[in-house]
Amino acid sequence: MSANLSTEQVKALDKKYYMNTFGDRIPVSFVSGDGINLRSAEGDVYKDFFAGIAVSALGHNYERLTKELCDQIGRLIHTSSVYYVENQARLAQMLVENTCADRAFFCSTGAEANEGAIKLAKKYQIEQGRPERIEFITLKSSFHGRTLATVAATGQPKYQAPYKPLIEKFVHIELNDVDALKNAVNEKTAGIMIELIQGESGVHPATMEFVREAERLCRENDIAFIVDEVQTGVGRCGRLFAHELYGVKPDIFTMAKGLGGGVPIGAFCANEKFASAFKPGDHGTTFGGNPLSTRAGLVVLDELLNNGVLGRAAEAGEYLGDSLNKLKDECPEIAEVRGAGLMRGVEFKEPKAKEVGNKLFEKKILVGVVGDRVLRIVPPLIVNKSDIDILLNAIKEVL
Ligand SMILES: Cc1ncc(COP(=O)(O)O)c(C=O)c1O
Repeated sequence: MSANLSTEQVKALDKKYYMNTFGDRIPVSFVSGDGINLRSAEGDVYKDFFAGIAVSALGHNYERLTKELCDQIGRLIHTSSVYYVENQARLAQMLVENTCADRAFFCSTGAEANEGAIKLAKKYQIEQGRPERIEFITLKSSFHGRTLATVAATGQPKYQAPYKPLIEKFVHIELNDVDALKNAVNEKTAGIMIELIQGESGVHPATMEFVREAERLCRENDIAFIVDEVQTGVGRCGRLFAHELYGVKPDIFTMAKGLGGGVPIGAFCANEKFASAFKPGDHGTTFGGNPLSTRAGLVVLDELLNNGVLGRAAEAGEYLGDSLNKLKDECPEIAEVRGAGLMRGVEFKEPKAKEVGNKLFEKKILVGVVGDRVLRIVPPLIVNKSDIDILLNAIKEVL
C-alpha cells in the first residue's frame, strides 16, 4: 500500500476516523524523505529542522539505516525477550561501553523509559528496606511523557488537569532553584528526576550549579539521580549524552527519540547499584528491545560514534548556536537564544512565534513552535552548515 492520497484526502480521513487529540494539524502529509528534505504528497520539498520532534537523528532515508533495516526485516522482526536477542545484547553493550552506566533496558517510547526509571528508583528503596521512600522531585515546566506516572512527573498543569487525581507522588520545584531543591528532599524522597535542557517547554537549560547540587543531594541521601535524556540524548546536544556536558554521572538515565533514527525504541540505563534492584519478573515488555528496533539503535550509535556523525553534529550545533546569536544581535525582535548543540530555542519579545513558524512553513521550512514566543530548532544530526544558512536567511527574511 503506497501513500499517494493528497494532503486534503488524508485530512478528511483523519478528521473522520482518528481520535481528536492533535486538533488541526499543520496542513501537509509527507510521503518520502532524503537527508533533511521531506517531500509532501503534493510534491513540494521541505527542509526539516524539526526531525519529527527531535527524532530522525540520521535524517530521512539514510542509506545505511534503510539497508540494514531492510536486511533485518528480511531476517527477523520480533521474537520477544523470552529468548536471547543478539541485537539487544549488543546494543546494551554499546551503551554501557560508551557511558557511565553498567546496564541497559529497552522499551519502545520515552514515557515508558521514564516509567521504568521511576520503578527502578522505587524498587531500589524497597530493596534497602525503606519502602516509605515513594516521592520524586521533578521540575516545573518539565515534560516526561503521557503515561499516568509520567504525566504526574511532568510539571505542567495543562497535561495533568484532565487526569486528576494523579497517581504517584511528585513534588515540582522551579528549574535552577537550588534552595528549593535542597528543601524538597525529605525522608520520603526516592529520587530527583530532571531534564538538563527542558525541550518541550521551550528549550530551558539547567545551570551547572543546580545539576551538580541535584547529584550531590542524591548521593548524600542515597536516592536516585535520574536524568531524562529522551530529547537531549543520542548526540542532540553535541555529546553522546547531555550529562557529559555537566560532568555528572546519573544513577539512571533515559533515552528514546533519536536512538532508533525514527524506529520506536526507548531505553533506561543505570549503574550496577540501582540496576541490581530489579530482580527477574520486576519489569518487562513485549516489544522492547526486539531485533528490529535494536538493529536501528546499533546503526545510529555506530554512525554517531564510529563514523563521524557525532563530531560533525557537534560542529553543526556550534555553528547553529553562533549563527542564531548573531541573528539576535541583528534582530531586535529576538529576546534570547538558548540551548546546546542541535537543540536550540529562539524566544521572541512579542508573541509572534506562531506567525514566524507559519511564514517559515510557507517558505517550505519546518521548525517547532512552543507556546507564543519560542521557536524550537532540532534538526537531524546530519544537518550541515549550508542547510543552517538556509534556515537563518529564511528567519531573517521573515522577521
Ligand atoms: C524530555 C522528554 N521526556 C519524555 C518524553 C516522552 O517521550 P515519548 O513521547 O516517546 O513517550 C519526551 C517527548 O517529547 C521528552 O521530550
